This record gives sequence, C-alpha cells and structure tokens, in this order.
Amino acid sequence: MSVVTTEKHDNILVIISNNPPVNALGAAVRQGLVDGINEALSDESVEAVVIRCDGRTFFAGADITEFGKPMKGPNLGEALDQLEASNKPVVAAIHGTALGGGCEVALACHYRVAVPSAKIGLPEVKLGLIPGAAGTQRLPRVVGAEAALPMVVIGNPVSAKKAHGIGLIDKIVGEDSLAEDAMAFAREQIGKAPPRSSEGTANQDGVRNPAIFDDFRQQSGRKIRGFDAPEAGIQAVKAAGEMSYADGVAKERELFTKLMTGTQAAAMQHYFFAERAANKIDGIDPKIDLIPIRKVGILGAGTMGGGIGMNFLSAGIPVTIVELKEEALDRGVGVIRKNYENTAKRGRMTEQQVEDAMSILTPSLSYDDLADCDLVIEAVFENMDVKKEVFTKLDAIVKQGAILASNTSYLNIDEIAAVTKRPEYVLGLHFFSPANVMKLLEIVRGEKTADDVLMTAMKLSKKIGKVAAVSGVCPGFIGNRMLSPRQEQANAMLMEGANYWEVDDVLLEFGFPMGPFQMSDLAGVDIGWHRDPERIETMRDALCAVGRWGQKVGKGFYDYDQARQRTPADEVKQIIAEFAAKAGKEQREISKDEIRERLLYPMVNEGAKILEEGMAQRASDIDVVWINGYGWPLYTGGPMFWADTVGLDKVVAGLEKHNLPVADMLRDKASKGEKFNG
Ligand code: 3HC
Ligand code: NAI
Repeated sequence: MSVVTTEKHDNILVIISNNPPVNALGAAVRQGLVDGINEALSDESVEAVVIRCDGRTFFAGADITEFGKPMKGPNLGEALDQLEASNKPVVAAIHGTALGGGCEVALACHYRVAVPSAKIGLPEVKLGLIPGAAGTQRLPRVVGAEAALPMVVIGNPVSAKKAHGIGLIDKIVGEDSLAEDAMAFAREQIGKAPPRSSEGTANQDGVRNPAIFDDFRQQSGRKIRGFDAPEAGIQAVKAAGEMSYADGVAKERELFTKLMTGTQAAAMQHYFFAERAANKIDGIDPKIDLIPIRKVGILGAGTMGGGIGMNFLSAGIPVTIVELKEEALDRGVGVIRKNYENTAKRGRMTEQQVEDAMSILTPSLSYDDLADCDLVIEAVFENMDVKKEVFTKLDAIVKQGAILASNTSYLNIDEIAAVTKRPEYVLGLHFFSPANVMKLLEIVRGEKTADDVLMTAMKLSKKIGKVAAVSGVCPGFIGNRMLSPRQEQANAMLMEGANYWEVDDVLLEFGFPMGPFQMSDLAGVDIGWHRDPERIETMRDALCAVGRWGQKVGKGFYDYDQARQRTPADEVKQIIAEFAAKAGKEQREISKDEIRERLLYPMVNEGAKILEEGMAQRASDIDVVWINGYGWPLYTGGPMFWADTVGLDKVVAGLEKHNLPVADMLRDKASKGEKFNG
C-alpha cells in the first residue's frame, strides 16, 4: 500500500501519510503529498484539504537516511510551493511532533490546527543544518523574527499552547478528535482567500529593530559557541525581513547547502544515529520482559548519591536513601532540597513539583529499609573492601529479583558481584557528576549480568532522561579509561616545558568546556591527598601541601577571583619548574599542534583498544560517552568519528612521531584505509 493515501469526506479531501515510525518525509511521502494536492485541485467537488498523519506523530522531518544521497522525486521545497499555491484551503492537522520538514509542511499549509500535546519545532540546527524547505523564510513571516530566532537557532520545539500564543497554530483542537475537528475547521475556511505564509509580514519586527539579532547572539553565547549552523540560522531569519521571499529562499538554500556539505553536519548526524544505536544491545531482544522498577534504594548520600536519587524523584519513582550517620543523611537530603529549590527559583520547576519530589524521598539510617526496593544503587566510598562489605549486606537484605548496582568509577564489577549470591542481578550504573545534570549513564555489564537486568537498566535510563552506553568491565570503563592517557600526556608535557594554561587553552579551542588542569581545580586537586598529607611525591601533592586544593579554596593550578575567573599562578609555575628540574627533563617550546595531538590521539588509541577487547559494542558508543560525559564537542562527532575525519593514517603517524603506542586495530584500520564508523 502507498504510504500516502487520500479519503474524501463530502467536499473535503484528507491526505493521510502512514510512514512509520515517525512519518519522515522520504521520496514516496513527498510524491504522495504532490499527488494528493493535484487530486484535490483536479476534483471540482473538493473545496478544502486536510493533511494529517497516522501513527505516533505528524511528519518528524526530512528522512535523515536520504541525506548525502542523490535526491529522488520532488524536493520538499517544490512540493510545498505547490501545496501553498493551492486556491483551495489546506489545513495541517498536527499531533505528536511536527519537526523540521514536518514543521515546514505545516507552515506551507494555509492553516494549522493541533492537539494540546503536540510539539512543533525546527531542530535542524541539532543536525548541523538549518531548515531547507523555506522554513527560515515562512516562519518569521508568520510569527515574527524575534519568536522565530530561538526556534531556528536553538532548535527546541514549542508546545501547542506556545505555538498558539505566537500565531503558529490557528486553533488547538480536541486531543482525541483531531481528524473530525480539522475537517470542521477546514469547512469553515471554504470560500475565504487562503492566507499564505510566504506573504506574511510579521518578519518586519526585525527590520524595525535590527538589534534583536545581536542581542540574540549575545544571549545564546555559550550554547552556540563553535557551531556553524546557529549563525547561518540567524542570517537566514534576518534575510527573511530584508529580502523578497524568493531571494530569502535562495539565501536559505545557499546557507543550507554550505552546511550540508560540511563536516559539522556529518558529525552531528552521526551523533543522532549513534545515540539511538547505543540503546541497542547486540544479541538481546529489545522486546525482552523487563523487571518493573517501582522503588529505588540509594546507599550513600554524598556528592553522587543525592544527585542520583534526584533523577528518580524527578521521574516520580520513590527513593529510599541510606547513610551511616544522621549528620551525613541530613546534609545529603538538605542538598537535594536546595537543588530543587534553586531550580524552582529559576522558574524551571513549580513549588508543588519540589514538594512532590521531596514527598517520595525516604531518608533512613537502616539497610533494612532497602529490603523492598527493586533496584539499589550503591554510591559509597571508592574502596573495594568497603564495596564488598556493602554488597554482602545488601544481598542478604534486599529482596530476591531486585537489581544491585554500583556507581563505582574504576572498580571491578565482577569482583563486587562475586560476593553476592545473585551476580546475574549485579551491574554498574556509572553516573557523572553532577549526577542530576549530566546526561551520560555508563551501564557496566558484568560477566554474569542477565540480559533482562541490562535491558531494564537501559530502558530506565531513558525514563530518567539519561543517554546510556554499555561498557564491559575494565578499569575506568569507557570514559575514565580514555581520560587516563590524556591526563598522562598533559602531565608529561608540563614536565617537558609546556605551560599548563596553554594545555588547557588547546582543549578550549578544540571545543571542550574546560582543559585538564581546570578540571582538576574544579574536582579538587586534593582528592585522595588528605589520607597522607605528609607525602609529596607528585606535582599535585606539592600543590596540596601549599594549600592549593582547587577552586573551592580559591586556588589550585590557577588563582581564582570572586567571579571564578582564572589566572595562572607564579607559585605553581615555580613548583612545576622544580619538579621538572628534579626529573632532569629538558625544557623546550611545545607547539599547539603537538599539545593537541598528544592529548587527543592517545585517547583515540585507547578507544581502539576498548573496541579490540570488546569493552564497547561499537565505535559510536564511545562517541556517545565522550560527548555526554566529558564535553567532547558535539560538532566534531566524538573522538572516534573525529579520528575518522582526521584520517586514521594521520593519527597513527602522529602517535609514532611522539613515541606513543599504537593499538593493533588502529594500525590495521589505518593501513587498510578503513574508518571506525562506516
Ligand atoms: N529520518 C529518519 N529516521 C528517523 C528520523 C528522521 N527524521 N527521525 C527519527 N528516525 C528514526 C530513528 O532513527 C529511530 O530509528 P530506530 O528505531 O531504527 O533506531 C526511529 O525513527 C524512532 O526514533 P526515536 O527513537 O528517536 O523515537 P522517539 O519517539 O524517541 O522520538 C522524534 C521521536 C522526536 C521524532 C525523534 O526521532 C527526533 O527528534 N527525530 C528527528 C527530528 C529531526 O531532526 N527532524 C529534522 C530533520 S532535518 C529536516 O527536516 C531538513 C528539512 O528542513 C529539509
Ligand atoms: P562521597 O564521599 O561524597 O559520598 C560517599 C557517601 O557514602 C558518604 O556520605 C558516606 O557517609 C557514605 N557511606 C560510606 N560508607 C557507607 C555505608 N557503608 N553505608 C551507607 N553510606 C555510606 O563520595 P562520592 O563522590 O559521592 O562517590 C561515591 C561513589 O561514586 C564512589 O564509588 C565514586 O568513585 C563514584 N563516583 C564519583 C564521582 C564523582 O565525581 N564524585 C563520579 C562518578 C562516580
């Protein structure tokens, strides 16, 4: 059956798309739309048209899998021009998400009605693009440049209510009566001259007040830093006010084509599919029966425990949190409340939502209160003996069939599982700090972890808004394991004469939010030092000995002012120089290129080893980990995709030039001219 069909209801022709899963606008759908409009125009008894979709959503955009291939059938822009030109009114009936090309279809229709739960947006920017079927020209003409800017440049969808408020939606209709309500609405428009978005004039707000473009650039600063598409989006929206419609469309095409052929778009489209691929676990049926998780236990209310708990509370899942001492428990619960209250102050939560979340939190000093939890996550001190003791206790107390997870950063999950009588119910759930904010969840699959346990964790991660990737058991798993060689090189370069701020700056320029020494200052230079404050073996020990514990005390590698601005410190330069002299290291100038290569290539090499050992299922999972857990710039696609774009032969040559090890898989792929991805 064709993916687009028509139904005639008296004088209304309804064009229906059914192209699961998301009604992407592939060639057949575009052709179907054109055929549908032609049918309406050639049938005299038809007086109005409704376009709607079957399945879970209105068109969710262009078919991304067609990108980069020769265009088949009518292009979307042409199809939409034909649609808009119709002299019979055309109504878009929207449910689910009208995104990208889907939003552009709606904009080309003369009217738009939507159910209350619908969302509408232009997320192209998240794929490194701007809308390419005149969305940047029609939208501002309908809602004004000011309202169009965030939609085009940031790309978050708006609710039906918001869309109605800005004039993007003409009417909100019944949640369960879209088809009928849209036809009734269409009937009311018969005989009226169809309003065409391309002829709208709301875009003149940007002409009257051109400052809105610069203001928007300023406000968006950090969010769009390094990305090419947002600037193109701003220019396109601006053009919508300054140029004729036809010239504006030509401008959009020029900007779109430039982006489409660039590496950022390729990288971001790679990431789109990588995130979805990471949800799939090789060899496990995605429809496997899951373990219901109705109540979660957390052990330890420190830095991580509290944040981990918040994820579940926010998703409406009751949490019991257990600590050793009243004081630690009170402090932990206090931090959770304070975090929620701060969110409420910023208007991102209501007071009621804060109370609702807190009302399903049960603080406790007794392990017995964890007995009926379906999942318990341990976030106590990072020490194998402590973890073993805790898991032995949990295994005895927590009901059979419940999952026991550890948030350990480095320790061996199999060794922890071995102290229980249920190793198949044990796995690692490695959250990142701050755990209520960071998107990544590394799910560590133990040797004996059961399939349903793993899949339950995977599905649960989506429910709490995390992006998950599965790792095998190895020290540091995927993320921290790759961080180690980077840190090693960063330290080594200081000994050879590089300035630590230069090392940080190279990573900032690459697109990371911070460099390795800024990261040390933020996390605390003193982690692990207080146990043995007499010891001065490393440069870090020496910094701690003079009280340079990190940002929390106003000084670490850098001196910090009140506004947390950093300046390199003479005292630190002195300490580093002394250590370098003691190590007998010759000092030399180290170029930015060398710094970048020595920081990043060893990470790629470690990634290759992780793949070689089967610790990651696929190269793209590694990209998902580094983009979501460590701020690797999305527009480069993650470490493995980035290495592909650099060229694996170049990466190998770079590693050899700096006398660094090369993994067999990396060497092999480079010599065959292969890539990690594709
Ligand atoms: N093209 C091709 N495949 C798509 C797709 C698209 N636009 N959108 C989603 N899919 C696929 C996914 O890859 C996934 O495939 P899989 O099951 O094989 O892994 C499947 O559809 C289901 O997607 P999700 O798992 O993401 O389903 P959700 O229900 O969680 O989310 C969604 C649905 C909100 C629609 C989400 O898929 C999404 O955001 N899609 C992308 C929307 C988008 O970016 N549209 C703009 C495209 S660019 C464009 O339109 C250019 C135009 O201006 C010319
Ligand atoms: P933390 O020291 O802030 O908190 C640990 C808490 O556990 C303390 O409040 C302590 O009182 C409590 N605790 C200790 N033994 C306990 C027991 N037997 N029963 C109940 N509570 C007990 O430590 P943090 O940073 O939260 O780390 C916890 C775990 O998370 C560690 O395994 C760590 O490696 C891991 N992790 C830490 C990250 C970080 O950035 N801090 C990131 C990811 C993982």
